Parts: sequence; structure tokens; C-alpha cells
Amino acid sequence: MTEPRDIDALLDEVVTLPSLPSTVAHITELVNDPDCSLTAVGRAISVDPAIALKTLRLVNSAYYGLRNKVSSVEQAVVLLGLKVIKNLVFTATVFDTLKSGVDAFLRHSVSCGMAMRVLAENGNAPGLDEDASEEGFAVGLLHDVGKIIFEQFVPEDFEKVRERAVRSHVPWHEAEQEIIGVDHAAMGARLAANWKLPGNIVAAIAGHHDLAKCADPELKGLAAALSAADYICTAAGAGSHDGAAPVVAPDVWPMSRIVSENVPSLLDKYFRTQSAVEELIQIAT
Ligand SMILES: [Fe+2]
Ligand SMILES: [Fe+2]
Repeated sequence: MTEPRDIDALLDEVVTLPSLPSTVAHITELVNDPDCSLTAVGRAISVDPAIALKTLRLVNSAYYGLRNKVSSVEQAVVLLGLKVIKNLVFTATVFDTLKSGVDAFLRHSVSCGMAMRVLAENGNAPGLDEDASEEGFAVGLLHDVGKIIFEQFVPEDFEKVRERAVRSHVPWHEAEQEIIGVDHAAMGARLAANWKLPGNIVAAIAGHHDLAKCADPELKGLAAALSAADYICTAAGAGSHDGAAPVVAPDVWPMSRIVSENVPSLLDKYFRTQSAVEELIQIAT
């Protein structure tokens, strides 16, 4: 039996966190510069053909529901604005990381992104920036990315986690804490911080299975929303692995301010996103 490790030891000894591709880092830098021009951003995306192509496919997908087909990255930048483009390029990149997992995992990630988008649009995800639905989607898409890191770097332990979670019905993150020494929420938050993602995204990922792990008390509502989104998509059949049981900590509902009268309409809105989910999965793979 392996000794449980702490996250620093794990990172020092085994894990080399994937770096954010330079194109995305460059685009983020440009978008954060108040003097940057739309043309410069369009050009930065166009130099990376793989990202440019995925960006265009995303722009033309049902997710954005644009009436006319967009045929160039420059046009997409003008139509959607810089912040949306930044998220879109980010999504295109994260897809590459997530698709290395099993199919169920990508579906779970995209579905959680959509559930988060629904919650954000209903005002149930406090702590997001002004493009709440976009940022909500991004945080949902990324919330379990720590599992990919474990699967890549400690595959044997990861397999033991799967067995323990599936056979003994131990919540997945608890099995990770037992066997690996840290859970995917801590690992994912570390990756997000390494990628210099906004603090709200890092905090929400850190707290999505235990609100107490969310460093900023102001952002517990966001972590609660993420936990609720995770629950909604799992309960609706898009769990992260076979036999995944939807579990949610009791403090999540009051913290997320989701009231029971709104649940039917939230679920209805979530189920309406299913064709967009299918399309996004197609684009990702
Ligand atoms: Fe998770
Ligand atoms: Fe999840």
C-alpha cells in the first residue's frame, strides 16, 4: 500500500502540470490590455490553425446560436467581443486536455459547464465576472480537470480510486484523499492557479466538493453553485464515471441560493441544452 502524499510532494515528485499553450496565454494577455485592438486578437488566434479552427466551429455551434455563419476569426472577434473570444479560445484548448479522458468524462465536463451556464443566467452563481454565463461555462468545463492529472501521472492509484469509488460507493474525492493523499479538487485548483486563471475560478474548483476548502468566504456561493451544477448533470445521467452517484453537501443548497420552486425551470433549461452539449462534444473530439 502506497503512503498517502501531500499535494506538494505529489507535485514535486511526479506531476509536471501541463502549461497553458502559448497562444492562449498570449491571447489572454492581449485581452487584458485595455489598449489592445480587435485585429491584434484576431491575428493572434489565426496564427494557431488548430485553435483557430476549433474557435470557428465553436462560434458557429448552437451554443452561441448566431443567425449567420461566421467564416473568419476576425469576424468572430468583432461579433462576440473580446471577453467571449478569450473564453472561447480557452474552451477550445481545455477540450484538448479533457478529451484524453474517457468519453463519460468529457460529457460530464461539458454538461457541468452547461448546467453552470444555466445557473449563472438565473442569478444562482454569484462571484462570476460580467460575462457570467461564459465564465460559468468555463468553470464547469474545468471543475474535474484534476482527475485527468491523476489519471496521467498516478494511473495505478487512479485505478484503485475508481475501484474503491465504484465498488464500495465511497465518494470519489474521499477515495482520492485516502489513496492518493489529495483530491482532484485541490489538484484542479492548483492547475487553474498555475494557468493564472482568475481567483474566483480557482476558489470554486477548490471548494466544489467541500465548501470549507474554498479559500475566499465571498466565493463560497460560487463553489456551491458549481457543486449544484455537478449534482444536476450527474443526476440527469451525465456522471463522470459509470455508476457515479450524485452527492452534494447539505450546505450547498442554502449557499447557492437555489430555491426549490425554481428547480423545475432550472432543470427544464438544463435539458434544453442537450443538443448543444452533443455538438460541443463533437467539436471537442
Ligand atoms: Fe469533482
Ligand atoms: Fe464533477
